[in-house]
Amino acid sequence: GIELGKLLAQTGYITYDPGFVNTGSTSSAITYIDGDAGILRYRGYPIEQLAQNSNFIEVSYLLIYGELPTKDQLEDFTQKINRHTLLHEDLKRFFDGFPRDAHPMPVLSSAVSALSTFYQDSLNPFDEPNVELSTVRLLAKVPTLAAYAYKKSIGQPFLYPDNSLGLVENFLRMTFGLPAEPYEIDPDVAKALDLLFILHADHEQNCSTSTVRLVGSSEANLFASISAGIMALFGPLHGGANSAVLEMLQGIKADGGDVAKFVERVKNKEKGVRLMGFGHRVYKNYDPRAKIIKKTADQILSKLGNDELLDIAKTLEETALSDDYFIERKLYPNVDFYTGLIYRALGFPTQYFTVLFALGRLPGWIAHWREMITDPQTKIGRPRQIYTGEKERDYTPITER
Ligand code: ACO
Repeated sequence: GIELGKLLAQTGYITYDPGFVNTGSTSSAITYIDGDAGILRYRGYPIEQLAQNSNFIEVSYLLIYGELPTKDQLEDFTQKINRHTLLHEDLKRFFDGFPRDAHPMPVLSSAVSALSTFYQDSLNPFDEPNVELSTVRLLAKVPTLAAYAYKKSIGQPFLYPDNSLGLVENFLRMTFGLPAEPYEIDPDVAKALDLLFILHADHEQNCSTSTVRLVGSSEANLFASISAGIMALFGPLHGGANSAVLEMLQGIKADGGDVAKFVERVKNKEKGVRLMGFGHRVYKNYDPRAKIIKKTADQILSKLGNDELLDIAKTLEETALSDDYFIERKLYPNVDFYTGLIYRALGFPTQYFTVLFALGRLPGWIAHWREMITDPQTKIGRPRQIYTGEKERDYTPITER
């Protein structure tokens, strides 16, 4: 394929593929998806088995290093991450500069970008120990940054990380805890969040991961590339869909709960009306992550208090799955259809959902950047175009226009 591509480029042929529906931009050994069969595997392990038996730190290790860690490797990895959760005090002051109602995604992206100013001595993408250090710093500090973005938005003081806690527990405490007050971690809440992070951890060449790889292909450092990935995830057709689903469900509720009426609006292709959380570029079957999440949504919501929006979501899913419009187009629930409901039950505000997606996707982005930078086939990403503008014409003086 690569040789054929090179040959075609030499002969002047260009493949026109808007949205890269059929263009393989790279080879990769990280994640396998069979969209027709609804299969997802990280490094060969089925997502169902990882969801059942693993945890987010272990899955992060698996994605980045290619194998499940031994007990010692896992302990060492966890310890390294715990040692790097603190932020430089100067970095904390960045948060003062943003408006209080700023969306937390650009705040997070800016803060991650700023990390490259604090660690300027370790940005060489080809120096393995540096890349290792940047990897650990990101995994450790992004949860702290994410928690601070939240605290800033509600005007509460920042909490220092407590490194005796696990990554997810520490993040929950920094997000919802208060200084000088004990914060009791609900193990079911921590488990649900850990599971959601596992399910979001990688999804091969999606928009944000491709962004990370493309930016990194110019040999930009890991922090810069991840910061760009966070911004790609911000969009409502990608990571922003989890917030959009909740807003859609709230809209249906406010409009009297008439699901059929909403589905008609979707089918009539009213501008800006899509069934959010449905459809996927690759899955033409039920998204395997959505299946797992649906179960968790049931469990966590029955524990933390039922939510009328869950009933609306279920009716919406049933209605869509038996409607020809959705059947013909092979539109099924994706990972985001039920996640927003769980995040809401856990106490996160809607704007913050996409930040949670970013936390989960972080190890996947890192794994792809590292795979890209060490792949001898990597070249700077530089797509071609089909020019549709004016033919050559002569400059007209302003008095004659
Ligand atoms: N609601 C209604 N119609 C839809 C939807 C939807 N959610 N998704 C696709 N369609 C329709 C399109 O209108 C199109 O119909 P047409 O053939 O009559 O023109 C057909 O299905 C094909 O859709 P495309 O937009 O060409 O599919 P594409 O692969 O480009 O888009 C996407 C995939 C962006 C995920 C789309 O399904 C969508 O917008 N879904 C809603 C947003 C969402 O949930 N995003 C999260 C994706 S998963 C993730 O990032 C974690």
